[in-house]
Amino acid sequence: MSLRTQVGIVGAGPAGLMLSHLLHRQGIDSIVVEARSRQYVEERVRAGVLEQGTADLMAETGIGDRLKREGLIHHGVMFRFGGQTHRFDFDELANGRCIIVYPQNKVVADLFDAAAGGRVILEAEDASVHDFAGASGVAKAKIRFRAGGEAQEIECDFIAGCDGFHGICRPSIPAGALTVYDRVYPFGWLGILAEARPSSEELIYAYHERGFALLSMRTPTISRLYIQCKPEEDINDWPDARIWQELKLRLASSDPNWKLTEGKVLQKGVTGMRSFVVEPMQFGKLFLAGDAAHIVPPTGAKGLNLAVSDVRVLADGFAEFYRAGKKSTLEDYSRKCLRRVWKVQRFSWWMTSMLHLFDTDNAFDQRRQLAELDYVTSSRAASQSLAENYVGLPME
Ligand code: APR
Ligand code: PHB
Repeated sequence: MSLRTQVGIVGAGPAGLMLSHLLHRQGIDSIVVEARSRQYVEERVRAGVLEQGTADLMAETGIGDRLKREGLIHHGVMFRFGGQTHRFDFDELANGRCIIVYPQNKVVADLFDAAAGGRVILEAEDASVHDFAGASGVAKAKIRFRAGGEAQEIECDFIAGCDGFHGICRPSIPAGALTVYDRVYPFGWLGILAEARPSSEELIYAYHERGFALLSMRTPTISRLYIQCKPEEDINDWPDARIWQELKLRLASSDPNWKLTEGKVLQKGVTGMRSFVVEPMQFGKLFLAGDAAHIVPPTGAKGLNLAVSDVRVLADGFAEFYRAGKKSTLEDYSRKCLRRVWKVQRFSWWMTSMLHLFDTDNAFDQRRQLAELDYVTSSRAASQSLAENYVGLPME
């Protein structure tokens, strides 16, 4: 069967669904092709912190109702080291901008609910992209896949590769056309989701001689907690009791009244950590957005927000093209995104380097890290720099 649309989108993660949503609002037709089921995509436990700009975009485009009801607005974030807790006060340091704790899977569900029926093709197998090399014009780009056992093809003016880090769009671009910038970290995060009232109203990033730990949350009754671990750590070596024990040690506070709340572990897993950027983010009629083009280590919670800022720029480019026949905004897509992407890469790398133990580091490096933590928590200029990046740099 052959289908036609203006923009064919591969991947129904936050990038693909948000792009489809923004295009729909501009009267531009799109079809999203997704390998997994809606249930799988919605239940994947992922990030949970929205920059204010991301939350504002959801509200402005009519998908912010549940976010407004259930999102937890945070006006600060904590660092803990040497048992002492330091707060970055966004009201004071970031002109009152804030972050909103709201799980990525709810963002995805809200976007699915907003999608006018039929625009997302789920459980599409063997997706491949074709005829995207030339400039936009008469020749159509194509997405081929199998759905319900049948071969299908979508003809489109443009393809948006929103299929994540392991997707097929980036590898379909001739290797010589792309430059890859990459850094793999010598550690990962072991994360749990627990039925436990969060022990702190705000996130706590902890630097500890046993390794980094993070206390985060999803709702007023669900905690999300992480500890630094080896990248190849076997989750089977970590029964719940051992995880709680390690969290208690790393998150220990000099405040005798502070206690880590424990609860039933609902989900656990290990994720590797990597910084990755591909340049440019466009080849002919194929545009890469979100994790397909770049990934950040999770320290600072930027992955989802970066995906959203990409598709905002991309949607503007398509809108100008279809409204005024102007190609300049679309042609500027990669350059414009990469300026912000690299600043966010720098921030995520810096947070990661400051807060984790590296096995190549020695006692000098640990003293240096402590001095950096002391500096960033005591200097107004340094605190302000952290806060403005944490709440989100301007979109432009
Ligand atoms: N065909 C169709 N769909 C595919 C294919 C394929 N060959 N390969 C991958 N996909 C789908 C995945 O199943 C997934 O639903 O593309 C989607 C990509 O979604 P994400 O990985 O969530 O990437 P993105 O939308 O860019 O969002 C980035 O998500 O992973 C987090 O930390 C990341 O918060 C960041 C955000
Ligand atoms: C999360 O809640 O999953 C989270 C929060 C902050 C981070 C990373 C992950 O920096």
